[in-house]
Amino acid sequence: MSTHAPGAVRGTIPGTAQESRGASPAAPDPRVPLLVYFSSVSDNTHRFVEKLHARAVRLPVHTGEEPPEIDEPFVLVTPTYGRPDGSGAVPPQVVKFLNRAASRRHLLGVIGAGNTNFGTAFCLAADKIAAKCDVPVLYKFELMGTPEDVRKVNQGLEQFWRQCTQPRA
Ligand SMILES: Cc1cc2nc3c(=O)[nH]c(=O)nc-3n(C[C@H](O)[C@H](O)[C@H](O)COP(=O)(O)O)c2cc1C
Repeated sequence: MSTHAPGAVRGTIPGTAQESRGASPAAPDPRVPLLVYFSSVSDNTHRFVEKLHARAVRLPVHTGEEPPEIDEPFVLVTPTYGRPDGSGAVPPQVVKFLNRAASRRHLLGVIGAGNTNFGTAFCLAADKIAAKCDVPVLYKFELMGTPEDVRKVNQGLEQFWRQCTQPRA
């Protein structure tokens, strides 16, 4: 029931090549994009985020743990975990994090991870969050992404970050 080719791209990040550099833990350099991401124990999203030129904060894997509070602009990266009946989609750990208005108000956009085998529910969590929080879906990738996904996101994120965080001359 696949509706998209693996690695299919829909979103606002355009695609041309750029060398990727590794993501690093959040450091106090606001010029470098900040990603907040969830990844379960299967670590697909984590492996993708590791390849990005960004500061990165991972949300707790277990819902019992308290999510971090973020007080600066960030882009959220989240996989979709839907239930067979079509409900769910947004991981509870992400819901818990976004329920805090103090963090949510800094959300600039969403990057979705998923599996095209889920058809129309591919990356549904990103669509749901974008609609609810009125921010754009920047990109969608499958599983741990391809080298092309990494190139496109690195380039698009840098551009998006500049637009959102730097005053125009
Ligand atoms: C129970 C379950 C439900 C899932 N539901 C969806 C879905 O509705 N849409 C989608 O695009 N991917 C779905 N996926 C695929 C995951 O989003 C995908 O494997 C993702 O790479 C997991 O990221 P993670 O390893 O970082 O947690 C589902 C996976 C599982 C195990």
